[in-house]
Amino acid sequence: MPTNHKPLDINKISNSINCGNIHYFDSVNSTNTWLLENGKCGDICISETQTSGRGRRGNIWESPQGNISFSLCYCFTEITEYWSLLGLMTGIAIAEALQDIGIAGHGVKWPNDIYWQGKKLGGILLETSDQSGKVVIGIGLNVLLPIKTHEKIGQEITSLTEIMTLTNNSIFSKETLFIHLIEHLQIKFRNFHNLKFSEFIKSWEKWDILQGRTVTFNHQNRKITGKVIKIDTQGRLGILQNSGILDFYTSADIKLRKNGDSE
Ligand code: BTN
Repeated sequence: MPTNHKPLDINKISNSINCGNIHYFDSVNSTNTWLLENGKCGDICISETQTSGRGRRGNIWESPQGNISFSLCYCFTEITEYWSLLGLMTGIAIAEALQDIGIAGHGVKWPNDIYWQGKKLGGILLETSDQSGKVVIGIGLNVLLPIKTHEKIGQEITSLTEIMTLTNNSIFSKETLFIHLIEHLQIKFRNFHNLKFSEFIKSWEKWDILQGRTVTFNHQNRKITGKVIKIDTQGRLGILQNSGILDFYTSADIKLRKNGDSE
């Protein structure tokens, strides 16, 4: 097995990063819910498994033992004009952390999915409890997916174990990945108030897997087909339709087929 499934060595993580308290559980309902109810600025909640893991759009997030399920509670002091880019920025931070541990071929599917070669590897759930600037950023990455979990999820998914096996078969340390993830997230969040859109877009384009693709999705009971052109300063996805109209969307559930094409 190219990865270890021992419980995390939390001391190794806490000795390497600077954060609030790390709340570590063998099992919790949802690390996001836990931090929304109990978290203080800078705290991190990590759980080996979640009994009610939540995804975007009210979906259930399957969190079998040993997968990466954690949330970070971050308090932003300024809500800037680029506030709506926070989720995309989180995706960039995760992509960079995966690159640090030697993964290649991954990217971010707008707005908040982490993909590897057309299959979903992970996701992000951003939630706020009030208007204070306190945000809970939840991240789930598949490490090993039991067949049962594969069957429950109605889309192409992958895991870090599968990727490692298919690529170089090397062992990776989950603690090291956690350290890289938390560091990249903290740097991005700390500097978020100074974000320059021109620099942001360069990083986004490096990881964006939809750019230039023709995609199809449902929007307000209408089927939209068009080419992904760019995102704007509010993080909306710009789609050029056959009619020549460029429209921007705040949300769209774009599904990818196994080969990476849109449905
Ligand atoms: C998605 O792709 O729909 C988002 C998935 C987010 C899952 C993570 S796992 C840690 C945190 N706790 C949750 O209940 N959800 C997020």
